[in-house]
Amino acid sequence: MATTEGRLSGRVAIVTGGGKGIGRAIAVDFAREGAAVAVLARSDMDSAEAVAAEVRRHGRRALAATIDVTDPASVETAMDLVAAALGRIDILVNNAGHGRAALLAELPAAEWDATFAVNTKGCFLAGTAAARRMAAAGGGTIVNIAGASAHRAWAGRGAFAPSKAAVINLTRQMALEWAPSGIRVNGVSPGPIFAADDPWRDRRPELVARFGRLPLARPGLPEEVAKAVTFLASDDAAYITGHMLPVDGGSLLTWYVDR
Ligand SMILES: NC(=O)c1ccc[n+]([C@@H]2O[C@H](COP(=O)([O-])OP(=O)(O)OC[C@H]3O[C@@H](n4cnc5c(N)ncnc54)[C@H](OP(=O)(O)O)[C@@H]3O)[C@@H](O)[C@H]2O)c1
Repeated sequence: MATTEGRLSGRVAIVTGGGKGIGRAIAVDFAREGAAVAVLARSDMDSAEAVAAEVRRHGRRALAATIDVTDPASVETAMDLVAAALGRIDILVNNAGHGRAALLAELPAAEWDATFAVNTKGCFLAGTAAARRMAAAGGGTIVNIAGASAHRAWAGRGAFAPSKAAVINLTRQMALEWAPSGIRVNGVSPGPIFAADDPWRDRRPELVARFGRLPLARPGLPEEVAKAVTFLASDDAAYITGHMLPVDGGSLLTWYVDR
């Protein structure tokens, strides 16, 4: 495929959880906009390699590598690997996520810990590891993926919403502490997102009914989240830091979900 200049030309980006879902869409949109992309995954390296191949088909450099965002040593190793292979780190997207649906009274403590380990501690570990390298190189930008349920209460979300609510405040603190180093930090909060070919998107009646109550009356696409992430990662957002951008079909405007 012919390469063209884009809003991220010359940048090197890391996407955690980049092998599938929203992370895959972000990696591909970054490539379309000119970035070299490191696709990091915990265990599913076949998917990560496939996304890296897709990035290369856009004429950009790519790397697929493992990371466990809950483990400081693994995070440091992955950051060093990316910097050595692709030359620098300009953009980090903290997209790796974990969460099981459960009522709080039935949620095992181990599941609470596992959710906070990936969603909150992982964001802290990868964010600080990248920020130290960005600061030394003169700046960069970070986008943290939270979730619409972090902005309000939704019964049955287990530890997911609380762990993502912490990401919102972490985003603000990162933005404040790292602005003097030339690092902007923002976040995106997806609502319900289903791939266009996901069989659950249209076929599960209770989901179709629920999404019909959204102001935009449908679930979102991974590519629609990716467009918001690309905007925040690009110089188009050069004067924006510390903010969360919901990409949620208007769900935060209304009580569309069941009690
Ligand atoms: N999909 C939605 O409707 C929705 C809504 C709100 C928020 N979000 C958030 O958006 C992000 C992406 O969601 P998704 O549904 O597209 O993701 P997904 O398909 O559930 O994939 C999660 C990714 O996170 C990676 N991961 C999990 N634990 C990890 C760890 N310890 N270290 C490194 N990577 C780890 C997985 O790696 P492997 O591939 O190796 O397993 C996987 O690639 C998540 O943060 C999620 O919470 C999604």
